[in-house]
Amino acid sequence: MEAKKRIAALIKRAMHQAFPDAQDLPDAAQIAGLMEIPPDPTMGDYAFPCFRLAKPLRKAPPIIAQALCAAIDEPRTAQAQVAGGYLNFRLNRENFARQTLEAITPRYGASEEGAGKTICLDYSSINIAKRFHIGHLSTTMIGHSLKRIYDFLGYRTVGINHLGDWGTQFGKMICAYRRWGSREEVEQGGVDAMTALYVRFHQEAEKDPALEDEGRAWFKKIEEGDEEALAIFNWFKEVTLQDARRVYAKLGVEFDAYQGESFYNDKMDRVIRELREKHLLVESEGAQVVDLSEENMPPCLILKRDGATLYATRDLAAALYRKDTYHFHKCLYVVAYQQDLHFRQWFKVLEKMGYPWAKDLVHVAFGMVSYEGQSLSTRKGRMIYLDELLDRAVEKALAIIEEKSPNLEDKQRVAQQVGIGAVVYATLSNNRIKDIDFWWDRALNFDGETGPYVQYAHARCCSLLRRAAEAGGNAAQPRFDALCDDEAQEVLRLLSRFGEVVHEAAERYEPSMITRHVTQIAQAYNKFYYEHRILDEDAGASAARVRLTEATRDVIRTGLWLIGLEAPERM
Ligand code: ARG
Repeated sequence: MEAKKRIAALIKRAMHQAFPDAQDLPDAAQIAGLMEIPPDPTMGDYAFPCFRLAKPLRKAPPIIAQALCAAIDEPRTAQAQVAGGYLNFRLNRENFARQTLEAITPRYGASEEGAGKTICLDYSSINIAKRFHIGHLSTTMIGHSLKRIYDFLGYRTVGINHLGDWGTQFGKMICAYRRWGSREEVEQGGVDAMTALYVRFHQEAEKDPALEDEGRAWFKKIEEGDEEALAIFNWFKEVTLQDARRVYAKLGVEFDAYQGESFYNDKMDRVIRELREKHLLVESEGAQVVDLSEENMPPCLILKRDGATLYATRDLAAALYRKDTYHFHKCLYVVAYQQDLHFRQWFKVLEKMGYPWAKDLVHVAFGMVSYEGQSLSTRKGRMIYLDELLDRAVEKALAIIEEKSPNLEDKQRVAQQVGIGAVVYATLSNNRIKDIDFWWDRALNFDGETGPYVQYAHARCCSLLRRAAEAGGNAAQPRFDALCDDEAQEVLRLLSRFGEVVHEAAERYEPSMITRHVTQIAQAYNKFYYEHRILDEDAGASAARVRLTEATRDVIRTGLWLIGLEAPERM
């Protein structure tokens, strides 16, 4: 348990002891919420503002502080002292060090709070015939990280790639392929060759508008299950996925299911039928929509004039399918905030259909990616493909390793871990809603608050632990009074908070909280490392510092894992 909670428990006990008849007193969690960190560290480690109790107790804050102070007698946890209306606490540092380090195991921070609950996560969800670019990094890595976080908290998780594999553009692509394409071209050119076909289609269709009908006809064939159309389309899909899987493998990202939009082709009838039965469908300019004017939103389009279903229809079908199949506790959609209206609309439709679990659907929105101040655009050449970015990052990592540690074993592998780590860390370093402006030099920066910096702190701990083991292990009893200095205490404070940070990151769908926390741990440990001799002559002090190093290594490694970074033992 972290120190704050222990002190909150002390305050609670003192409160009931000093004022046994009082009503409406805060509970331990509320007390912890009221506690502050004194502005001046010489005043103590924590402060409790007693004026928050003045109302229920009908007493002046200094009197309350006196009474509480008199009722607290637990020097093993902390010393209390009155300062006006505040009750200040000075932790028993030695005890805090012992308790914190005794609690830290390699799986420290994990819990069973999610036992028996399933979380579905819809992330990455790329579109067929498009190359994987930096605009896809956020959804892919936020989703991947959230999946690991929920796993760690005992939930069952289902990662779903809701592929964009349905739409008239695929009919056009097939049309173009049949007229001007060849198998070799697509096999060699991959997604780029498909895009080229699509571009060609539009150029030709300007001259010959009849092509549009041909494209539509091919799309209809896909939908009707025509053998030739499906064979070509499935092949396009396979080629796109081969590309994507290569990138996923580099990033360590996995899915439990690839269920794209087309997967729901035979699951639409139910949606339409239910909407009709519940009198929610109305006609509007020939189309079928759900009116949302009472909710101050434009209508949600369900069926086009020609009877074709839409993106929202497919999301409704997917939600029903997921609820039936996985019985989820929550279903998260990690999708850019531009789609905010789309999600609000169809979440509302589901609610109107009478499904109370509509409230368990969450749009986990994130900011937009731009490139050096301008929007991404393939046409204008402002586009960065993910494989290129990852390759360049790995190359740079390798160059640095060659320069700084040419004798490192397995350089190529470490360069992968570090280079890719830098990119992933950068993706998860700010609050997800913030827009990201991509600059090459920033993405390839390995100094300051970056993934490699944190990885390096971890490798430093590993190296120190190897040296300690060579020096005969830490057979001595740790002397925890050797960890009472400010630097060690700051590391301990951060380590003790780790579980709470993971929990909050899950609650707010915000992996960046973990990114920030492991960075702070790395910084605090580095400071400790520079100010203190770890392998000291005093065996007991040494053993305690080695134990702190080991705990730091474990927590950083876990934290990095949760945000999708590897932690090399040597760099
Ligand atoms: N493929 C879509 C896009 O690229 C994202 C799909 C997100 N998931 C969903 N269930 N709508 O915009």
